[in-house]
Amino acid sequence: MSSQIDHLLDETRRFPPSDEFAASAVAQPEIYERAGADREAFWGEQARELLHWHKPFTRVLDWSTPPFAKWFDDGELNVAYNCLDRHVEAGDGDRVAILWEGEPGDSRRITYAELTEEVKRVANVLTGFGVGAGDRVAIYLPMIPEAIAAMLAVVRVGAVHSVVFGGFSADSLRSRIDDAGAKVVITADGGYRKGRVSALKPAVDQALSDRGDGVQQTVEHVLVVKRGENEVDWVEGRDVWWHEAVPAASAGHEAKAFPAENPLFILYTSGTTGKPKGILHTSGGYLTQAAYTHRNVFDLKPETDVFWCTADVGWITGHTYVAYGPLANGATQVLYEGTPDAPHPGRWWEIIEKHGVTIFYTAPTAIRSFMKIGRSVPRKFDLSSIRLLGSVGEPINPEAWMWYREVIGANKAPIVDTWWQTETGAIMVSPLPGVTATKPGSAQVPLPGITIDVVDETGEEVGNGNGGLLVITEPWPSMLRGIWGDPERYKETYWEKFEKQGYYLAGDGARLDEDGDLWLLGRVDDVMNVSGHRLSTAEIESSLVAHEATAEAAVVGASDETTGQAVVAFVIIKQSYLSEHDPAGLATHLRQWVGEQIGAIARPRDVYIVDELPKTRSGKIMRRLLRDVAEGREVGDTTTLADTAVMSIISAQVK
Ligand code: PRX
Repeated sequence: MSSQIDHLLDETRRFPPSDEFAASAVAQPEIYERAGADREAFWGEQARELLHWHKPFTRVLDWSTPPFAKWFDDGELNVAYNCLDRHVEAGDGDRVAILWEGEPGDSRRITYAELTEEVKRVANVLTGFGVGAGDRVAIYLPMIPEAIAAMLAVVRVGAVHSVVFGGFSADSLRSRIDDAGAKVVITADGGYRKGRVSALKPAVDQALSDRGDGVQQTVEHVLVVKRGENEVDWVEGRDVWWHEAVPAASAGHEAKAFPAENPLFILYTSGTTGKPKGILHTSGGYLTQAAYTHRNVFDLKPETDVFWCTADVGWITGHTYVAYGPLANGATQVLYEGTPDAPHPGRWWEIIEKHGVTIFYTAPTAIRSFMKIGRSVPRKFDLSSIRLLGSVGEPINPEAWMWYREVIGANKAPIVDTWWQTETGAIMVSPLPGVTATKPGSAQVPLPGITIDVVDETGEEVGNGNGGLLVITEPWPSMLRGIWGDPERYKETYWEKFEKQGYYLAGDGARLDEDGDLWLLGRVDDVMNVSGHRLSTAEIESSLVAHEATAEAAVVGASDETTGQAVVAFVIIKQSYLSEHDPAGLATHLRQWVGEQIGAIARPRDVYIVDELPKTRSGKIMRRLLRDVAEGREVGDTTTLADTAVMSIISAQVK
């Protein structure tokens, strides 16, 4: 890895914004000075300028009981009102909020006035279900406008949503519903993916079925959008069709004010243990930083821009840059239901051409898969409307960065490589497009108002030219407020390591180059990043050992040309199983098993059946050595293994 990094740090290409771009940019260089002079005053200003407060706050930050922060906490607002009604009241009701493209080719344009009305009706339906402030609602939907309407309706009544990515399995959905104690689930019969309907409702039915594990069932109603036209089972009294209940509900709904620290949503993400963490975000601070970053990083001009973030609403990127940021800023945005290559490999570029997308935000894994197909596909479309490009989810290699710039950005659109996490809620590190001279592969600088450092194991700054751990040194408005139901795990995971300094540990390795620019180097813990999605080794291992054939399993993230990292599993099969079953096809079967248990994104690229795993004398699996095998490298230092011969046996078995 380190030779690769040295090579990266030799990168000398610089791309300053054009004079024209710089002159008209939303964020001008003075913003750094303003934020640096008085950070809290700066955030107070942003909160007041970007949002409507039903009751103004008098205090910006309360950090008296770290690591539990309160931002703007004596203020009150309604998040949905900020995203909808106020734009209509300001005379922008006819502005298009959502330009939606369904995968099969159907499309819809929804104005701010229309979306506001729909959300009011859904809010009334939820109230009718007995959903009120603080209640949790799970959302398990495809990328259809109803997903956004559902999120906003939930927060409009002061409730908390937990969006579960539609690609997750019934088991994953169940554990998230249980953990949050959801009262209602909003889902669809199905949605379109890769040219066919992928059903969703059956997973909800399965998740809610009686499983005899003694866990109290909390869900009272399931609201079902008709999208896939697939047959679904129906539980009378529990299940309600959206297309029946929503139009029948009143379009009158007053948005009540809720305290700034009212919980807004829970979003589950992988950590170092098997159990996903429910990351909790609250209202005022989150929305402030969502709106601020969306305006300044993407240089948003709401009257003229067409924004498109390709993330699914099931991930944090979809929360902040599909739902909340764009709508809080009154932007017009594209929403697309399907996959990039359905029904043809130029689908995304066709959508950009059709809607004249000006700002495009996607992930390196997508860019690399387009690179593989070749530039002839995007070249068939008119992409001249694009004026800004963004990247998120994992480090972008300079080669992909250059391809993105040349082929999609016509060699002129600035690229913002944005580093952040589910936990940070919004972008933390990124160039400002009208200010920063960009460097291919580097996320570069903390945003104005954000303080980041790279430190060694003891918390000492490493200084320019050196690598270490990325930390956030001061609280920020959209920071997570905790892990749902587990304050101890929150402290332990993020704050314990640098408790003395009060730093937040991001879990990423990073280096500062000689200019002080940041280069992200990937996770330093047992978290993998596959196609920009976080997966924990422990979660996949526990799914593998839940299979009757498996005695032991170890999972590593091995580097992969397209997906960044890929899941590679090493599995020991039980003797008893082998004596009764034919092991042929077992690896394939285990791959599918993980897909069913967690979701297709977690399905291992490779499953190797081995006789032993490399362990230290204290019994800890040395995944580092397995990664060497998975990446086809010579195996590293094995001296701390209990049995040093193990690795040659494993290598031979894998070959
Ligand atoms: O390792 C970093 C990587 O993605 C992790 C956060 O994953 P998640 O919570 O799923 O959120 C992804 C979208 C915000 C980080 O710890 N990561 C995210 N953006 C970048 C990145 N790594 C390098 N460069 C980025 N721009």
